[in-house]
Amino acid sequence: MCGIVGYIGTEDVKETILKGLERLEYRGYDSAGIALFDGDQVRVFKDEGRIAHLRDIIDYDVKSTLGMGHTRWATHGKPNKINSHPHQSIEKRFTIVHNGIIENEEELKERYLKNIKLESETDTEVVAQILSKFTTEGEEVTLAIRHLMSEIEGSYALAIIDKYNKEKMYAAKNKSPLLIGKGDGFNMIGSDAMAMVSHTNEFYELDDGEYVEITKDKVEIFNIYGVKVNRDTYKAELDSEDIEKGTYPHYMLKEIDEQPFVIRRIIAEYQDENGELKLDQDIINKIKNSDRIYIIACGTSYHAGLVGKYYFESITGKPAEVHVSSEFVYNTPILSEKPLFIFISQSGETADSRAVLVKVKKLGYPTITLTNVKGSTLYRETDNQLLLYAGPEIAVASTKAYTAQIAVLSIIAVKASNKDIDLIKELSIAASVMEALCDSKDLYKDLAKEYLSETRNCFYIGRHLDYYVCMEAALKLKEISYIQTEGFAAGELKHGTIALIEEGTPVIAVITQEIINLNTRSNIKEVSARGANVITISRKSISAKSDQIVLGDVNEFLTPLAAAVPIQLLAYYAALDRGCDIDKPRNLAKSVTVE
Ligand code: AGP
Ligand code: GLU
Repeated sequence: MCGIVGYIGTEDVKETILKGLERLEYRGYDSAGIALFDGDQVRVFKDEGRIAHLRDIIDYDVKSTLGMGHTRWATHGKPNKINSHPHQSIEKRFTIVHNGIIENEEELKERYLKNIKLESETDTEVVAQILSKFTTEGEEVTLAIRHLMSEIEGSYALAIIDKYNKEKMYAAKNKSPLLIGKGDGFNMIGSDAMAMVSHTNEFYELDDGEYVEITKDKVEIFNIYGVKVNRDTYKAELDSEDIEKGTYPHYMLKEIDEQPFVIRRIIAEYQDENGELKLDQDIINKIKNSDRIYIIACGTSYHAGLVGKYYFESITGKPAEVHVSSEFVYNTPILSEKPLFIFISQSGETADSRAVLVKVKKLGYPTITLTNVKGSTLYRETDNQLLLYAGPEIAVASTKAYTAQIAVLSIIAVKASNKDIDLIKELSIAASVMEALCDSKDLYKDLAKEYLSETRNCFYIGRHLDYYVCMEAALKLKEISYIQTEGFAAGELKHGTIALIEEGTPVIAVITQEIINLNTRSNIKEVSARGANVITISRKSISAKSDQIVLGDVNEFLTPLAAAVPIQLLAYYAALDRGCDIDKPRNLAKSVTVE
């Protein structure tokens, strides 16, 4: 997680780095820091808290043309000033920022740092001290960096400043994301393109085990053996306006409202010149040639995967399983003879999913990634890629990526089937229904106030596809409002969980599938009889008079697209009411790059 920005050029770097960090703040935001050359010294300003606070503690008299910053998501040690990055080696020669986890930190301390008293509790400081030890023992800097890389296990994106060299910055990467931005008379490093896009849209990707030497005019990439690597730059299709909030109070609200447009963009991107849906033939062949699809994902992407499983089985007629990445990697089920792996990840950087990818690639199985970020790690490392075209998703709570994932999954399932479904028409209807739902914000605002503003807990209940929607709804509500929420299979409630229902417990029922309509309605009666305050979200053609939220009629298999809007907006308004930090909920980060 965490964001890194570095800049070397001819202008003062402070504002560039601070603005870059603000754009990366969604990646981690428990503490922040910046390192700047001041004469012959490297000055560090850092503290617990957000970038806004960092702005208050910087000495603005320091003018520097080389600097780097960090916004942290703590893994080792509390978020406090001492543990914040940058970290410096004992004699203050090296200043380092780090994203990732050094797994053999204890072993390294024992081997190299027995006589050094570390200041912080972080694994990062260990890196700074070892680098200093290697150079003190006579190694030249780049040799020391390579030596260091061969010693550390785990994940890292490192940016390093050597106080004896004002003209150069170093960076190294293994598993954690890091890009180099190429400029004219300056160069940058950043955890993702968003931090740099106001200055350049030309980037170098780094592979694992590579390090870079960066001056204002030159970027040189080397592998761990010190052999120079020739790499072309690529252009990012990212507009700096895409990442502004505009008139919206929160990114989450903006991203919810963008969903109908995203669905229409997906239709356009996946359409050929004859107006038919298109899909890479190689992907279709991979699906046809496999005997079982394994969908691998985390969080919201996992919930989209559950809907995808249903599509593959009911539309394509192919058996499918969905797995939480962090479980699959260390507790792998017995695989079928010809498995196909589909990774779903908004960011394309999620470490748990990547760990599965590394494992299944070693076994030689075909892999496909569905991601929102072109050029991300999962995008680069799988055989085939499908883009979500949702535009940058900045709010930590995923909204438009979820519906984009479902829309693209429906396209794959239909294209790989023999079914004659006019999906363009069905997706277009879904987009219009979503638009109408986005327009009824007052309804969700009122319901959130009435049912969710005081409660400690809440239940979402549903069956069939609605159960999957309920799981996502519960995650959305709990992650931004901190109301303990469970998404439950409505029929399973009576097997234990109904014991938690008491006078006033909010229960939100989702009913979009005809086959389960009456069953879920019976479950509503059961919880109402025990005092629950029920909100019902239903699809128009099976709605009852008393249902508070009614979704326009979309094709039954696309109802998760429509239902997403009210569940997201209920979460949004509940969090707003409770005074929560909606775009940056506590303890979380947007892209989870540690296992
Ligand atoms: C959802 O709102 C998220 N905060 C989180 O669950 C997210 O979906 C998960 O971390 C997976 O991320 P990815 O899609 O970028 O892999
Ligand atoms: N492991 C480091 C720490 O806890 C880096 C965490 C991050 O990626 O922000 O400080």
